[in-house]
Amino acid sequence: MRIEDPKLIAELSTLGIDLRPGTSLAELTSLAIGGTTDLLRITKHDSIPALIELLERIQIPYKFLGGGSNLLVGDGELSWVILQLAKPDPEILLEGNLAHVDAAADLGRTVTYCAKHDLGGMEGLIGVPGTVGGALRMNAGAYGMQIGSYVREVKLYRAAEHRIEILRGHQISFEYRHTSFAPDDMMLAVTLELPSKPFKEILQGIRICNEKRRSSQPLGQKSAGCIFKNPPGASAGRMIDELGLKGLSVGDARVSDRHANFFVNAGQASAQDMFSLIADVRSRVEKAFGVQLENEVVVWNA
Ligand code: EPU
Repeated sequence: MRIEDPKLIAELSTLGIDLRPGTSLAELTSLAIGGTTDLLRITKHDSIPALIELLERIQIPYKFLGGGSNLLVGDGELSWVILQLAKPDPEILLEGNLAHVDAAADLGRTVTYCAKHDLGGMEGLIGVPGTVGGALRMNAGAYGMQIGSYVREVKLYRAAEHRIEILRGHQISFEYRHTSFAPDDMMLAVTLELPSKPFKEILQGIRICNEKRRSSQPLGQKSAGCIFKNPPGASAGRMIDELGLKGLSVGDARVSDRHANFFVNAGQASAQDMFSLIADVRSRVEKAFGVQLENEVVVWNA
């Protein structure tokens, strides 16, 4: 989808939108897969309602991109534009045990920044790639913790209301890799309330989680983390492994040799390769275990 009308380009510029024509989504996603479209970077939260109103009026479909680390985007010319928040400076402000964090902030950097100021709790999230907004939307978690446990307040663009709102933590439900946010809500900022802990102690926790992750996940490879959610009481990775599917490939899309719920782009995989691999593995697991695995990875196709 291309924006070419000079009048529209001028209107976007007035709204503080930095228009990047013909951006490859392969460059913005950790799987390094995805076609091309125009990217609209948002420099001012307050301009979002007017931006959405404008795009809807002229019928330009859009999708809102976080860090691109849990995302599988279709191939070719995409039929929607991408909206993404620009990173503000600073991304994080601390006030006692509260951390006010912009949704565009890098999750790992946020965990370490808070740790250096003796604020802990999020050690398990240290190796999780992506932005704080992305982690919040899906309630990212690892090693017994989840980000939702620390949320005091969220600033978001509520698509249904066409306005920016603040929600208190108790108004949001955080479940396993799922939240009560609507699919078209945009996370803008969050206030986390974190327990005080000495930096040294947090660092120790971070080292343990890093070590566990390094020993069980394919960290240096292009992936979107786990492809499937774990079904209740079971592990998708273990089931796929038990079927001997590590190394199974479609083109350059491959089930990781290290962790069977990570599917990696081992070279120039297309989205189609990855879709076929996902469908194949899902159907083999269903045949063998009678369980239909649900995607954890978010798919944007067509
Ligand atoms: N297992 C295998 N073979 C494999 C992978 C795992 O036998 O190829 C076994 C492990 O040995 C272990 C069990 O399955 O006994 C569970 O494995 P693991 O501890 O790696 O946890 P997981 O359930 O596969 C979940 C999250 C990860 C998170 C880890 C650590 C999901 C879908 N995955 O993985 O999150 O990092 O726990 O807390 O919930 C993600 O969400 O993208 C992600 C990577």
